[in-house]
Amino acid sequence: MNKRLNILRTPAERKSADWRMAAPSLVEDVLRGLQSTPKRLSPTYLYDERGSQLFDQICELPEYYVTRTETGILAGNAREIAGCIGDDALLVELGSGASTKTRLLLDQLPDLAGYVPVDISRSHLIAAAQRISAAYPHLEVLPACADFTQQFPLPKPSRPYSRVVVYFPGSTIGNFDTSPAIDLLRVMRLLAGAGGALVIGFDLVKDRAILERAYDDSAGITASFNLNVLRRLNRELGANFDVSRFGHRAVWVPAANRIEMHLVSRIAQEVSIAGETLSFAKDEALITEHCHKYTCASFAAQAGAAGWQAQRTWTDAQRYFNVQYLEQRP
Ligand code: AVJ
Repeated sequence: MNKRLNILRTPAERKSADWRMAAPSLVEDVLRGLQSTPKRLSPTYLYDERGSQLFDQICELPEYYVTRTETGILAGNAREIAGCIGDDALLVELGSGASTKTRLLLDQLPDLAGYVPVDISRSHLIAAAQRISAAYPHLEVLPACADFTQQFPLPKPSRPYSRVVVYFPGSTIGNFDTSPAIDLLRVMRLLAGAGGALVIGFDLVKDRAILERAYDDSAGITASFNLNVLRRLNRELGANFDVSRFGHRAVWVPAANRIEMHLVSRIAQEVSIAGETLSFAKDEALITEHCHKYTCASFAAQAGAAGWQAQRTWTDAQRYFNVQYLEQRP
C-alpha cells in the first residue's frame, strides 16, 4: 500500500472521511421530489456505482463534446493554469469521478501540498485515488467521500499548504439551477478560505442540435445512464419501476439556457416506492437532470453573486467550453 495515499482505515478514521450520511436521507428526498409537480429527482442520484461507470462511458462518446473539449483546453493551457494555482497549494477537486483530466494539471504541479478528490461514489473515489497515487508517488492524496453541496471538513495534508484551490471541472456546476449554483459557489468560497481560488470549467450556449445530440447519443448510453436511476430506486428503496415503461428524453430549453433530461412514462401507470403509490400519466415527465449552459456574461453574474471574480479564462477554437481561474473579490 502506498504510504502517500491517505485512505483512512480504522472505523473511527473512516467516519471522518465519509460524509455521505450527513445528507438528508435518500428516501425522504426521493419521495419529496416524486410527489412534487413536475416530478423531480436530484441528479446526484444518477451517480451510483453503475451510473458513475456509465457517465465515464458518456465522456468517451463522439456526440459528447464536453469532456473532449475541456481536456483540449486543459492540455493546451496546463502550464498557465498551473501557474495560477501556484506552488504548495492544496488542490480540492469536487465531483472528482475518475480524476482523468486532473492528471493534465498534476503533471504541471510537482509542488502541490496535497490533492483532495471529493466524490459521493465511494468505491469509484477510492479506485481513482489509488490510480492517482500510483501515478504520482510524491503526491499526498487525501480522498474525501462527501456530498460536496454540503460543507465538509477538509482532510489535512501532512505538509503545510499555501492556500486552498478548489477545482470544479466538467461543467458539473451546470447541474445546479441559478440559486443553488450561487449557494454552491459560496460553499466553495468558504472551503477555499482566505486567499483561496477556484478553477472551474463550464459549458457554453451553442447550437440546439449539437446540444441535444450530446445528451441523446446514438449508442443509447445516455439513455441507460438516465434509466439507471430507476434501477437504483428499485434496489435501494424497494420501488417497483418497470424500466421498459419509461423512455429517455433530452430537450434544450432556450428560455432557461439548459438541457433537461427527462424520463417519460410511456403509459399511464402506478409505481410503489417506500410504501407510497405514485401515479404517472401517459407521457408525464420525471425530470432527472438540468444541464445549464452559459455565456461568459451569465457565468460572471453567477460567480459574482457568490463573490468570485475571473482573473483568467481559456476557451477552445469553437468556443464550446470555458475554463476560468477566479479569485475572491476583496
Ligand atoms: C456531469 C453534469 C457535467 O451535464 O454534461 C452528461 C452530466 N448527463 N450526459 C453534463 C450528463 C448526461 C454532465 N455533468
